[in-house]
Amino acid sequence: MKISKVDKVSDYVLNAIENLIPQLSSTSKIPTRTDLETIVNSNSTYLFIAEEDNNILGTLTLVFNKIPTGEKAWIEDVVVDKLARGKGVGKSLTQFAINYAISNGVTKIDLTSSPERVAANKLYQKLGFKKRTTNVYRYIAN
Ligand SMILES: CC(C)(COP(=O)(O)OP(=O)(O)OC[C@H]1O[C@@H](n2cnc3c(N)ncnc32)[C@H](O)[C@@H]1OP(=O)(O)O)[C@@H](O)C(=O)NCCC(=O)NCCS
Repeated sequence: MKISKVDKVSDYVLNAIENLIPQLSSTSKIPTRTDLETIVNSNSTYLFIAEEDNNILGTLTLVFNKIPTGEKAWIEDVVVDKLARGKGVGKSLTQFAINYAISNGVTKIDLTSSPERVAANKLYQKLGFKKRTTNVYRYIAN
C-alpha cells in the first residue's frame, strides 16, 4: 500500500473522493473538482490518499493551523472504502499524517470523532491520541 499527498486532481482522484465522502457522511455535500483543487493548491491543507493496485482505498486531510499559541495540525475527513476496511489502511493513513505533521515541526495534532464511530475511536487511541476534557461547539448560521 502506498500513501501519498495529492498534488493534482485527476479523474482518478475525483472519482475516488466521490465514492469515499458519502461513506464518511451522508449529509455532507460531495466536493467538486474545484473544491478539491482549492484544497490541493492550499499551502495549509493537505489531501492524502492510500492506494493499492491503482485503487484509492482511503483518504485523510491534514490541516495546519498557525495561531498565537503556536502551530497545530488537525486531522479531518478520514475514511476508508468499506471493501478495504480492517486491513490497516486507516492506521497507515493516520500514521502518515502524524509523521508529516511532526516532520513539519508540529507537535500537537488534534481531531474529533463522534463516540458512535467505534472503529475510528479505537484507531486513534491505538496510535496514541488521548481524549481531552474540552467541549466541542459548533455554531450553525441559518
Ligand atoms: C475508521 C476507519 C477509517 C478505520 O479504517 P480501517 O482501515 O478499517 O482501520 P485499520 O484496519 O487501519 O484498523 C486500525 C485499528 O482501528 C481499530 N478498528 C478498525 N476497525 C475496527 C472495528 N470494526 N471495530 C473496532 N475497532 C476497529 C482497531 O484498533 C485497529 O487496529 P488492529 O487491527 O490492530 O486491531 C474506517 O472504519 C472508516 O472509514 N469508517 C467510516 C468513516 C469514519 O468513521 N471515519 C472516521 C471519522 S472521525
